[in-house]
Amino acid sequence: PAPPCTLVIFGAGGDLTKRLLMPSLYNLAGAGLLPEGFRILGIDHNDNSDDGLRRDLTASMESLSKDPGSEFHADRIDPTSWGFVRDRIHFLKGDFEDAATFSAITQKVSGSAVFYLAVAARFFGGIVEGLGRAGLLKQAEGEFRRVVIEKPFGNDLASAEALNARILEQADESQFYRIDHFLGKETVQSIMALRFANGMLEPVWRREYVDSVQITAGETVGVEERGGFYEPTGALRDMVPNHLFQLLCMVAMEPPNSFGAEAVRSEKAKLAQAVKPIRPDHAVRGQYAAGTLEGAAVPGYRDEPHVAGDSNTETYVALKLDIDNWRWAGVPFYLRTGKRMTSRRTEIAVLFKPPPFRLFEGTPVESLAPNVMRITIDPEHGAGTELNVKVPGPQMRVGRVQTAFRYADFFANTPNVGYETLLYDCMTGDATLFQRADNIEAGWAAVDPLLRGWPQAGIETYPAGTPGPKAADDLLARDGRHWLGLD
Ligand code: BG6
Repeated sequence: PAPPCTLVIFGAGGDLTKRLLMPSLYNLAGAGLLPEGFRILGIDHNDNSDDGLRRDLTASMESLSKDPGSEFHADRIDPTSWGFVRDRIHFLKGDFEDAATFSAITQKVSGSAVFYLAVAARFFGGIVEGLGRAGLLKQAEGEFRRVVIEKPFGNDLASAEALNARILEQADESQFYRIDHFLGKETVQSIMALRFANGMLEPVWRREYVDSVQITAGETVGVEERGGFYEPTGALRDMVPNHLFQLLCMVAMEPPNSFGAEAVRSEKAKLAQAVKPIRPDHAVRGQYAAGTLEGAAVPGYRDEPHVAGDSNTETYVALKLDIDNWRWAGVPFYLRTGKRMTSRRTEIAVLFKPPPFRLFEGTPVESLAPNVMRITIDPEHGAGTELNVKVPGPQMRVGRVQTAFRYADFFANTPNVGYETLLYDCMTGDATLFQRADNIEAGWAAVDPLLRGWPQAGIETYPAGTPGPKAADDLLARDGRHWLGLD
């Protein structure tokens, strides 16, 4: 189990606590990874009590377990595991901006602690300052004080740098755990295993053999109730410098010297810093219009709640990235992400160059397309390849096949909502799967010219339930390439 500590949650009444933190703690308790000396102190500005918060979170666990749309599924809530978590929950009413809240915390917390900022981004800097001023970030010998910060970390390069500077005045970089939930996804970590535990892949994982790379995070959900957050944010800020850059770094970074946090994060930083600032003519933005998804009519973005009727916020973005380093110079990395696309699919596709000469010229070729290695993250964890083989029969003909495996076919599924690893790693002091200040800033630096250079008007729309705007196809067509299918 993790060492004894108190998990102090700012935003204990919020959605993140209910949807992700509690189910993850429950799973960790079930796996025996929480220590006896574990406590939770939930802070929220609404009135509540220890019993009240325990009741609220028990009710949300019950309803989540029955919700097929949530990440957490359980036939029943195991009373022992949930009891372990529930009985350790305490409540403190407090305003996140009030010094009195932090002095109240000093009365309640002793020993090691993890402060989890499950709150809106505007509170991040102030909470860290409140913690620092109250002396809550001082680490006694043999104890730790860590801070987990959620996304979004800044909304451009300047604000991310300012936030880093502000929090680093209060504590050391090693005490900050900046979360990107894509790093909690099993497959994102397994990309490293796939690349670095197999001698056959790494030799061809480079510009001499790779033609291009496509990274897709397609979603079918719309903006839902999050219009207020999404309007000033848009798809580029919401997904690219963070989530898509995690995938990019995992697939393109150099092999680290070890699996240690600093080694891995340094390689990621180097890769992100090698991404050339994205040219405006290498970027496409789009916004979903009304359309049909899974047989149902859905409204356009501008008709969603809390969205302006003339909004120019992008719900889709496609980019071409150039990486200026020895391994990848000249290999385009195409990234795209959007809401209300044809299907939910998060994947990386590495497309290889054709064989050096056309041995099979003159033979009927069904489709001598490039070899592709696909690593799928959602909806299913898996990987596969596309190969050209001989079609059985007397004639020499070449046809196309796919090989694929799903992790679920080989390994028993452990209960996982994605945050278990992150919470456990933070409690045990392993920062490998968290973002260092320079990782965050490198992501923003790459997209910053776009954020400032994009036209404010005239956004291209795409009907909901389609793969995105036409301009995104043109972006690849100009290079003689096309997007791989979404489904
Ligand atoms: C979040 C974004 O960080 O990631 C959402 O704010 C997005 O807009 C989500 O839908 C995607 O994550 P996942 O795990 O559903 O692919």
